[in-house]
Amino acid sequence: MMRTHRCGDLCTEHVGQSVVLCGWVAARRDHGGLVFFDLRDASGKVQVVVDPESTTGADPHAVRSEFVLRVEGLVRNRPEGTVNEAMATGEIEVAADRVNILSEADPLPFQLDERLEADEVLRLRHRYLDLRRESMQQKLHMRAAVNAAIRRSMSGQGFVEVETPLLIISTPEGSRDFVVPSRLQPGSFYALPQSPQLFKQLLMVGGLDRYFQVVRLARDEDPRADRQFEFTQLDMEMSFADPDDVMAAITEVMQATVKEVDDPRPSQFRTMTWNESMERFGTDKPDVRFGMELVDVSEVFAATQFRGFQADVVKGVVVPGVAETYGRNQLDALIARAEALGAAGLVWVKVQTGGSLESPVAKFFDEAEQLGLVDVFGAGAGDLLLLVAGERRLVEGVLGQLRLDLGRPAVTERGLEFVWVVDFPLFEGLDDDGRPIPAHHPFTMPHPEDLEELPTASGDKLLAVRSLAYDLVLNGWELGSGSVRIHSSEIQRQIFTLLGTTEEQAKARFGFLLEAFRYGAPPHAGFAFGVDRLTAILAGEDNIREVIAFPKTQSGADPLTRAPTPLDPAQLRELGLEVRERPS
Ligand code: AMO
Repeated sequence: MMRTHRCGDLCTEHVGQSVVLCGWVAARRDHGGLVFFDLRDASGKVQVVVDPESTTGADPHAVRSEFVLRVEGLVRNRPEGTVNEAMATGEIEVAADRVNILSEADPLPFQLDERLEADEVLRLRHRYLDLRRESMQQKLHMRAAVNAAIRRSMSGQGFVEVETPLLIISTPEGSRDFVVPSRLQPGSFYALPQSPQLFKQLLMVGGLDRYFQVVRLARDEDPRADRQFEFTQLDMEMSFADPDDVMAAITEVMQATVKEVDDPRPSQFRTMTWNESMERFGTDKPDVRFGMELVDVSEVFAATQFRGFQADVVKGVVVPGVAETYGRNQLDALIARAEALGAAGLVWVKVQTGGSLESPVAKFFDEAEQLGLVDVFGAGAGDLLLLVAGERRLVEGVLGQLRLDLGRPAVTERGLEFVWVVDFPLFEGLDDDGRPIPAHHPFTMPHPEDLEELPTASGDKLLAVRSLAYDLVLNGWELGSGSVRIHSSEIQRQIFTLLGTTEEQAKARFGFLLEAFRYGAPPHAGFAFGVDRLTAILAGEDNIREVIAFPKTQSGADPLTRAPTPLDPAQLRELGLEVRERPS
């Protein structure tokens, strides 16, 4: 028998039993006489005591860190005074009868000590070592628990798991595709899916009614803390459903997942319109774990003499209690930050004891403005007010970012605040020709209340058209998005006309979907959320790399396997490809 027990499972109940353990040497203390090992396997660690006089097998003095051993021995209580409270198995130890070396180990390129920060690239270069650390093991276990909870909840709610193809044509998610050359049809390419979007809609036409998939996807966009080339989504779609049905199903999955991983943080779900989110938090990803909400003081300055505030809106945030501590340098840095974010400027105002204001521009405010400012903010002595004037969305965006810069709690802090952001605009802006750019994909259903306006709207009116699209935000991270889809060819035609997509273009890109819709398409709606992002937040990590077994670096490389690499000429020939220098 290779082993009888796992190291971390041993406890005082096993005292007196002969056991066989296998594992890595996590630590060794060689006292000349006795040699102590902390033997580690996937379940945890236990102390092994080797007496070179009596233990048979390998020479314990020759054993080094991370050697793989097989230990036969007897579980016994640790002698008085040597109990290790910090160790789960700290009350006992294993007195070795026999030690065998199963595998030797070179000195490690970095220490597997949780307290030491190893260089990120070095960690990824030797990820298999990094994964031996307890914290990494816990995170991968948590990820597995998240996946299991998602599957259980979705299946329990009657969703059917269907696998969609990996080699597809471009989907309309809007990022760059990773493409795969076809050997059998030289010169043609597949794309790796950015989303199973078109297939899941086809599954609804196919009568599947409720589909889900835990699915790996690829998007060629610059990696950052919450983004990797490859990522995992819980993807779902349901027929004869409205937004409330989708949100209820996803809320249930989230609750089941939080419960599964035993997250002690209180969790709360709320719903907010996109407009409200922009007005109060300056973003469509509101982090509602803290206050500092945006305050509109446009009314106060409606007739102001101060040129800087003669604008579309004047809004601000209050940074509580920092007026005394913020000096010139910090205030200048805030102004620079606001300007870098696109603001024409930033006005700071310190509220002093007695209610008087200190600000480089206070002299331009009349008394009513001074009183009104403090009043609308509900500010008190010691508060710092930061004000920005200009076009509404720009002002809100700048203040929303400053709010995060100055007040955002760490990922591990406070509760799990889920926000459903609903009634997203259908379009996110206009291109150079004044044509709208879809905020989601072109199959998103316009809000029924705005449908009438759609064919005739233009400019700002068009940008105000709402959609039946919704996002789920957790602690300020966009966790997922979804929408009700267009299943009527008339509305779809209107949208394509607005987007400037000709019938031929639509046919070439999505012809198969439009054709499928001609044969009886059920009304349907769906959603997808990022499993990496959800797991990262639950694991208290602010980079999704930490919850991915083999992630890529910021530059999209894999330091372990060295991907991406050039192809060998024979492979290129077979694919009918020739690599040329990219023109700069
Ligand atoms: P969307 O593009 O908003 O929607 O993606 C949904 C969620 O997937 C996660 N995600 C990512 N996670 C890590 N790295 C990435 N590069 C990455 N890209 C996306 C995010 C995001 O919120 N088809 C639609 C959904 C639908 O309409 O049903 C879609 O994919 O958490």
